[in-house]
Amino acid sequence: PGHGTHGRPVPGTDFRPVAPNRADALTIPPGYRQNVVIRWGDPVVPGAPEFDVTRQSAAAQARQFGYNNDFVGLIPQGRDRYLMVVNHEYTTEVQMFPAGRYDPANPTREQVEIAWAAHGLSVVQVVRGRDGGLEVVPSRYGRRITLDTEFEVRGPAAGSVHLRTSADPTGRKVRGTQNNCSGGVTPWGTVLSGEENFHQYFANSEQVTDPVARARLKRYGVGKGASTRKWERFDRRWDVAAEPNEPNRFGWVVEIDPNDPASTPVKHTALGRFKHEAATVKITKDGRVVVYSGDDERFDYIYKFVSKGRYKPGTSAHARRHNSALLDEGTLYVAKFTGDSPAGEIDGSGKPPADGEFDGTGQWIPLAAGNRSFVDGFTAEEVCVFTRLAADKAGATKMDRPEDIEPNPVNGRIYAALTNNSDRGAAGKAGADEVNPRNGNKNGHVLEWEEAGGDAAATTFSWRLLLVCGDPSTADTYFGGFPKDQVSPISCPDNLAFDPYGNLWIATDGNALGSNDGLFSVPVDGPERGHVKQFLTVPVGAETCGPVVTGDFVVVAVQHPGEDGTPAAPTSHWPDGGNAMPRPAVVSVWRDCH
Ligand code: FEO
Ligand code: CA
Ligand code: CA
Ligand code: CA
Repeated sequence: PGHGTHGRPVPGTDFRPVAPNRADALTIPPGYRQNVVIRWGDPVVPGAPEFDVTRQSAAAQARQFGYNNDFVGLIPQGRDRYLMVVNHEYTTEVQMFPAGRYDPANPTREQVEIAWAAHGLSVVQVVRGRDGGLEVVPSRYGRRITLDTEFEVRGPAAGSVHLRTSADPTGRKVRGTQNNCSGGVTPWGTVLSGEENFHQYFANSEQVTDPVARARLKRYGVGKGASTRKWERFDRRWDVAAEPNEPNRFGWVVEIDPNDPASTPVKHTALGRFKHEAATVKITKDGRVVVYSGDDERFDYIYKFVSKGRYKPGTSAHARRHNSALLDEGTLYVAKFTGDSPAGEIDGSGKPPADGEFDGTGQWIPLAAGNRSFVDGFTAEEVCVFTRLAADKAGATKMDRPEDIEPNPVNGRIYAALTNNSDRGAAGKAGADEVNPRNGNKNGHVLEWEEAGGDAAATTFSWRLLLVCGDPSTADTYFGGFPKDQVSPISCPDNLAFDPYGNLWIATDGNALGSNDGLFSVPVDGPERGHVKQFLTVPVGAETCGPVVTGDFVVVAVQHPGEDGTPAAPTSHWPDGGNAMPRPAVVSVWRDCH
């Protein structure tokens, strides 16, 4: 978003960094402006009622902007006009009703149905207003996808016995999507979204007696007893004892076509089932589609899918249909990383080894291609549905919570945020290795790799760490070789984006250094490589999501402001101020040129 010159300017990052703080505000650099684009409860579907928290209903929520906005995707629709697609990752019911109205031990049916309607995604049309900020405009594209929207299951596991339930004996139609974390805009103008922590909505897995089924439920962390939200009291599908296959119908990458409000969204089983943080696309040299995705759990894996068929450029309805179908047949791989320094030099302290870098090589291990499995004891269908167990067997590298993965549009390399892993090196757990070099990793790191020959289809790659995050004054941090006394402190990288110049932008979740979360820029090439600068901080208790960074403006989703408080003892009143309840909201920020 920057222009002008002082010091050694890097296009896109010429702003004065924001200092760490604990303000209940979205703090931006001097010379910039901001506006709230849309908040939880604002109308989305044409005719939706205005938000009134004292009389909220499921019917209203199903037409209004959902809770806890996470991913933001902008699909251009001509000059200064976009379709904006936003994920609503999860609900925090105690935050969603006035003080005293919600009893966590005894939610009402209406409250539970409000929560179902507050999940999913929203589609709205936005324009760049006269001031420079994004504004929602009424349009026929306004759409809510919730836990009641029908999805079509496609790919190798469509119709699988593991996906059949009493409500859907076909195993091909799932009601809804949940825990949609980050995602990606495809080159054909649709949105991919990762179903992440789907396990938390299910109850009573302890009543499942079959040992194979139990082991699978355990590997995905599905709840043993009652769930926190108690949804199992209102719909048997959340009760694993009653519907043991229902958890297998979540944990997928879903695809939404925002250009067609009547379209049926899709669950793509060829991309595997795990706690998908996101899904981002890169095209191979011979025109196939690659989707990168991380499994956000301590000691879980990084995956990629390579389609069998070739991409057709364009965003027409025909191109969208053709390219979406490519995600139904291809090869699913998991990553294995090898360091190039002697193991003895990786002591878990985070201090770089003698060659000065955490770096090495890697390979993509194939798990399944079409109906062929490469993993002993697994059919291809089982690889798709129980991907974590197949990857365990394949010997993949256990990572420090893989979050967003983004291809750099300028240098072609791929970047992954590894947010943290306080269990690294703990008793009975894997210790540090060169790609996860810090035991008790509280602040996370950022990984960069280059596919062999610069081709996303390659099965080998070289890698190095760009950042080992934390307080730059401590010895266990590394900022791409840049002088550490000139960088902003950064902790718990989560969502990634690139600006048009190829600078990486990093949004954080859970700042372990004690300040609010925020958004940071960092050049990845040239003399400024590793020069981390903080562009904004989000309000108290919030996490920074989105982000979208164009040459003209930045969009962030402010997720769970004030989550560290309660309606009776609030910590945040953002964005409405006064005594208002905090509301998750999407914000745009732009340079004030006047
Ligand atoms: Fe929903 Fe891994 O962040
Ligand atoms: Ca090395
Ligand atoms: Ca995330
Ligand atoms: Ca997060």
